[in-house]
Amino acid sequence: MGRESRRYVCQSCGYSSVKWMGRCPSCGEWNTLLEERERSYLKVLKTPPVRAVPLDSIPEESFTRISTGFENLDGVLGGGLVPGQVVLIAGEPGIGKSTLLLQVSRRLRSGGKVLYVSGEESSSQIAMRAKRVGAVEGRILILTETVFERILSAVRETGPSLVVLDSIQTVYSEELESSAGSVSQVRECAFRLSELCKEMGIPCFIVGQVTKEGAIAGPKVLEHLVDTVLHFEGERFNFYRVIKVSKNRFGQAGEVAVFRMTDRGLEEVLEPSAFFIEQRVRSPGSVIFPYTEGTKPILLEVQGLVVQALYTTPQRKTQGYDTGRLSLILAVLEKEAGIFTRDSDVFVNIAGGMAVREPACDLAVAVAIASSKRERIIPEDTVVFGELGLAGEVRAVHFGELRIEEARKFGFKRALVPRGQELEGNGIEVIGVSSISEAIDLIL
Ligand SMILES: Nc1ncnc2c1ncn2[C@@H]1O[C@H](COP(=O)(O)OP(=O)(O)OP(=O)(O)O)[C@@H](O)[C@H]1O
Ligand SMILES: [Mg+2]
Repeated sequence: MGRESRRYVCQSCGYSSVKWMGRCPSCGEWNTLLEERERSYLKVLKTPPVRAVPLDSIPEESFTRISTGFENLDGVLGGGLVPGQVVLIAGEPGIGKSTLLLQVSRRLRSGGKVLYVSGEESSSQIAMRAKRVGAVEGRILILTETVFERILSAVRETGPSLVVLDSIQTVYSEELESSAGSVSQVRECAFRLSELCKEMGIPCFIVGQVTKEGAIAGPKVLEHLVDTVLHFEGERFNFYRVIKVSKNRFGQAGEVAVFRMTDRGLEEVLEPSAFFIEQRVRSPGSVIFPYTEGTKPILLEVQGLVVQALYTTPQRKTQGYDTGRLSLILAVLEKEAGIFTRDSDVFVNIAGGMAVREPACDLAVAVAIASSKRERIIPEDTVVFGELGLAGEVRAVHFGELRIEEARKFGFKRALVPRGQELEGNGIEVIGVSSISEAIDLIL
């Protein structure tokens, strides 16, 4: 039996309260508490007795992985989709989420029907796109629907091999009074869909829109509910697209897959390093950084530019890199390496538009800035990685070996790395540095 209760839920973080407040005490946002009516289910007390089982008596589950038809997407998922796996794919408008999922529907190796539910577009819009990307096929069933209960019954009736819900923010359950896209709706619909998919053993993709700040619209709980969270990123005006996995219950997080957007849909880029360093410039301020957060490293070009400031307040602008981190690096450069940029504008760009968040990029950013400031070219055949501490010390990072190996594979001859991480380079000279000043002296 259900009982209705009234609550005020913060649309930014999911905090709920019995009374309205102007400011959310949890996330500090103003005017985000909205009234939502929810049915609270009173648990029936007559639950049958439960029994816990000894760990060693549980048979190991061996899942058959289902290929998505994209080698690099399978790689990101840890080898393909697992039956009942719920994957949230989040990305900015127009990045290509619907395109990718339509292509996956077509390429899915398991055969069988695919139920593609769209709450955003009309069936003819989808058909047009399908024609363009070559995904027109009878076994792909399109359902344009926003009432969640009807979607659930369609899943039960068709028993597909894959469900795509595009997007979670457009559907609403009739059992809740709040509007589509509200925290309660998003949470409830995602939870019930994932329960059904688990029960029926169907893998499922849920599209999630992102907010201006880049967070998945809806509370963190959405990320907790699903098995895998993929972030679809890229510059809208650039043709490259990247999928990063930030959570995966069936594989490693941090993996990256690179795609190229063409008029025939997305094409996978299987050698992203070659792709990103292709247009490398040979001028001061440019350096190659082997990026990796998973098992596949990618060589990226980091560019720094230091110019005399025209205005009283010097600018610090970055693309694909955190500005806060840049301020810290500039402070360390000034204090520990005597490189002053106080009166200069400083720009940092990760070429190709990829966004880098790992601290292993610090040293590359620092030497790129030093190189631009001193107008000295960094040797072309050198890669740089390492984290910077506040005292100017270069700290060890993850996956040193993988990064060096990737650089070697692409013909680089030298790697500047944190001291202690001078691993076997075979064919590449690996130089360990312990401070930023040592690194700059060596490389410039
Ligand atoms: N003819 C075309 N040639 C090349 N690229 C195209 C063409 N038509 C569309 N695109 C690309 O596809 C993108 C739109 O893809 P898609 O609709 O899959 O994005 P989405 O992430 O689902 O967007 P939304 O959030 O609006 O649903 C466009 O931004 C554009 O880059
Ligand atoms: Mg779309």
